[in-house]
Order: sequence, then C-alpha cells, then structure tokens
Amino acid sequence: MGGKVTVVGAGFYGSTTALRLAEYNIFDTVVLTDIVEGKPEGLALDMNQSRSIEGFETKIIGATTTPEGAGYEATANSDVVVITAGLPRKPGMSRMDLIGVNAGIVRGVAENIAKHSPKAVIIVVSNPLDEMTALAQIATNFPKNRVMGQAGMLDTARFTNFVAEKLGVKVGSVKTLTLGSHGDTMVPVPSRCTVDGKALSDLLSQVEIDELVDRTRNGGAEVVALLKTGSAYYAPSAAAARMAKAVIEDSGAVMPVCAWVDGEYGISGVYLGVEAEIGREGIKKVVESKLTDSEVEALKAAAEAVRAKQADVQTL
Ligand code: LAC
Repeated sequence: MGGKVTVVGAGFYGSTTALRLAEYNIFDTVVLTDIVEGKPEGLALDMNQSRSIEGFETKIIGATTTPEGAGYEATANSDVVVITAGLPRKPGMSRMDLIGVNAGIVRGVAENIAKHSPKAVIIVVSNPLDEMTALAQIATNFPKNRVMGQAGMLDTARFTNFVAEKLGVKVGSVKTLTLGSHGDTMVPVPSRCTVDGKALSDLLSQVEIDELVDRTRNGGAEVVALLKTGSAYYAPSAAAARMAKAVIEDSGAVMPVCAWVDGEYGISGVYLGVEAEIGREGIKKVVESKLTDSEVEALKAAAEAVRAKQADVQTL
C-alpha cells in the first residue's frame, strides 16, 4: 500500500470512484473534495465506516473546498488526481452543451490542484471530455503525458457489454475497442473486436454490428434519458478508477484513453482517444495499432472535430 489519490467532486461519479479506489486497498489515502459544505466529509465518514466490513485499510478524507482554493491543503502532494467536477448532462443535451459552464469549473480546479500537487498525474472525466482534458493541461501547465482523460475505457466497456448481450456470451470472452472522441466522432473499431478470438464480423452481420456501434456511440445519452437527472456513474467510475490504479502501480497496462497525440496515425497536436501505456508518469506511450483505412480516416476526422473545439477552450 502507498500513495495518495484525490477525487475532485463528490457527486455520484466522484464518490463512486473514491469508494472503488479505497476498496482496491492499494492507496494510503483517498481524498474526496466538493464545494458543497460537509458533503465530502460526510461521505468519507460513511465510507470509512465500511472499511472493517469490506476489509480495506485505505483512509478516506473528505474536504470541502472553495473555487478560490480554500480546503485544497487536504489534497497536497497527491500522486493521482481524478477531476470529476462540473455539471452532468440533462436529457436531450449533448456533452458539448456543457462546455461553457464546465470550462470555468475545470480551469479553477486544475489551477488549485497544480498548486498543491505539482507532480500529480491528472485524470479528467468532466465533459465535454476531450476539451476538458485539453483545458486541464493548459490550466495546470503540466507536461502533456501527465494529463489524460477517461473515455475510451468506458466506451469500450459499453461496446463489450452490448456485444456480449447480443451474442449471449460472457463479457470476459469479448474484446472490443473504441477510439476517437467521447462524443459524436467516437470511433468504435469493429476490426479489433473479437469473441473468444473470433472476428466479430464472422459472428454478426454488418447491419447488426452497425446497430451495436450506434448504441455504443449513444451509450451515455441512453443512460441520461432513463435517469432523467444526472448521467452514468457505475461504468464511468470503474473506468476512471482502473486508470488511477494503473498509474499508482506503474503497471504499463494498455488502455484506450484520451491522450496527447503527437504523430501517431499521422495525427498531431490534439487530445484524442487512443490506446496508451499507463504508468507513474501518466502516459508512457501512445500505442499505435493496425486499423483499417476507413478506421484511420474516421480517427483523423475525429481529431479534426476535437481540434477546433480544443482551440476554443484556451479562451474559456
Ligand atoms: C457518459 C458520460 C459520463 O458517457 O460522459 O456516461
């Protein structure tokens, strides 16, 4: 056990992430912060009281913070910081509709985090994801490998679940991949999808695969429409927590994440969903894999779509 992780934002996404991280029993400390007074302290107290039942020693600390930076001392010298702060979507909204309000929140949080944890690896989950990740890097001025976003793990997990349900097989036998943006230009990669090693295209028709791809691309909105208030958090928090675990364990695990791309696939200078090796320094390297020509074209189109928006965040 060792290390300290901070989760900023004690909504459903943040609090579930904090509990998952604590239950791994690998960190000394999980810090949970929020601007709602008493909420993070109350949740931390409750989580700590579950320790003897669930059998983990990690201590959870709750800290109320202010946008001006009060309370951030509790986060000092974190090894990893997961930023969940910001508003979730309401039914009918796209992730991009959140850009104005969440940019202000994420910028402020990132600046405060950078002051207190100058060596941290930052994992952003706030939406719109690709833009908020780019903004967090600008606001912290951290090296680009130390700032990444969570999206591909989640989108891939959704795709895997849909394939497993469609074929009536175990999720463990399904491998899928999604790249690109966490939005309309998400790029599910059917050529990399297998079930017990067999190509997905041998098991489902193109029409059926397209249906699953569409459902994956709209996976977040489908949950938002059902919940009516708030957005998904069980699968998203599982994905974010696994990324933080890979960082603290320096595991080198290859995961689909939002990372700074600098030449891979002929794309440069943009935060984009790609596969990358994760470790103590954040992104160890972006892993370029074999894609079909049309998949590479779709990835390039995604890069151009998010590049324009990421340029906008400089001024937000
Ligand atoms: C989703 C949100 C969290 O995809 O982006 O559910």
